[in-house]
Amino acid sequence: MNKKQLLTTAICTLYLLFAACSKKQATEIRPDTATAPGQPGAVAVVYADVQNLFQTRCSGCHSSGRQASSVWNFNGYTSITTNADRIKQAVLINKSMPIGGSLSAAELKTLQDWFDQGMKP
Ligand code: HEC
Repeated sequence: MNKKQLLTTAICTLYLLFAACSKKQATEIRPDTATAPGQPGAVAVVYADVQNLFQTRCSGCHSSGRQASSVWNFNGYTSITTNADRIKQAVLINKSMPIGGSLSAAELKTLQDWFDQGMKP
């Protein structure tokens, strides 16, 4: 091997090393777009996913003119966010709501995820 061949081989080897390293780093720092922030593996839950649950399972008693509207009145997103602690307590912790019917495990999980992810609108 003459000097020129040796130099070419050395440069190629260095190039391959750098290419291999930078490719590895690029893979490591790429954010995983399939998961929600702070919730590894969790699917993002938004208000539209829980709205129907409140509408069908709560508003029969908790909307204006109904029997329990004075305790809590469901009338949209902010009526939940401003009462989040009471709702979490009643539905997820005590499981005292809804009266006369329990939520399924899947409904409870969706609701829990929505609260945990910061009640996305
Ligand atoms: C069959 C009627 C009925 C249904 C359905 C119902 N509630 Fe209630 N809720 C009541 C009544 C009556 C009270 C007041 C007495 C009590 O706390 O048990 C109440 C109280 C509450 C309170 C106040 C608890 C406190 O002490 O701060 C919250 C919050 C609440 N309900 C949320 C919900 C949510 C969320 C749903 C739906 C998942 C729901 N309720 C479904 C009748 C109902």
